[in-house]
Amino acid sequence: MTLYNSPPAPLRKALSILDLAAMKQAGEKISCLTAYDASFSAVLDKVGIDVMLVGDSLGMVIQGAISTIPVTIEQIVYHCRCVTQAKHRAFVMADLPFLSYATPTMAIENAAKLMQLGGVQMVKIEGSHLETIRTLVKYGVPVCGHLGLLPQCINQLGSYQVRGREPLEADKIISDAQKLEQAGIGLLVLECVPASLAKKISLLLKIPVIGIGAGVDCDGQVLVLYDMLGISLGKRPRFSKNFMQGAESIEDAVARYQHQVKTGVFPSEEHSY
Ligand code: KIV
Repeated sequence: MTLYNSPPAPLRKALSILDLAAMKQAGEKISCLTAYDASFSAVLDKVGIDVMLVGDSLGMVIQGAISTIPVTIEQIVYHCRCVTQAKHRAFVMADLPFLSYATPTMAIENAAKLMQLGGVQMVKIEGSHLETIRTLVKYGVPVCGHLGLLPQCINQLGSYQVRGREPLEADKIISDAQKLEQAGIGLLVLECVPASLAKKISLLLKIPVIGIGAGVDCDGQVLVLYDMLGISLGKRPRFSKNFMQGAESIEDAVARYQHQVKTGVFPSEEHSY
């Protein structure tokens, strides 16, 4: 299924954070998927996925762990290299894994590894760590925030449940999002929050908001690649969708995802809270 007549990936200019900001301004939805290796990176790039996230979800889908906690910075760097070597156009960001940004100094050292050895353009941090974010931004490191469900806090949370249903928690997520923007983040991932809350935050912030289980009104969408290809080890989360159903190939499934994100068909209410 050919949905877009775009030129071959090598002929397309690499996207920058400014291009993503311009997409929000123009009302164009941003497509994002996780990627962990060169072959999938090349497929996603060919289809025209705008952002690839080398997520610490690799601990669960690649390593078979029960959470993202065991993933180390060296492992993420390895996967970043695999992904960045095989892409031409997509913007690539990577997670700073559990406890790798416990102090601003650690965050600087580990962001340097992701950017210099892994070749990524941005690092993602879970939670509201304002001093760390200000320090990274001061030294030229683009940062993506991550609010709502924070998988690295699973041992405090106890379960992967929707966040921000109660007014107090919703207000805290809104105020954290605004503080993160003021601290200098360039993108925000909102995970597992009610669609109405994500819509409010997407309208409030100037920077693009990428949702996962956060409804259709975010500025873009991200899914874990293996979930949307129907090959996750565990139960697929309710907000995800198996795009392999009815697809002719992996490339076709990714193209269907790209099309449904760009046209606002995905996520439907069935895949939202
Ligand atoms: O690690 C990851 O894949 C993520 C997404 C769930 C946003 O952080």
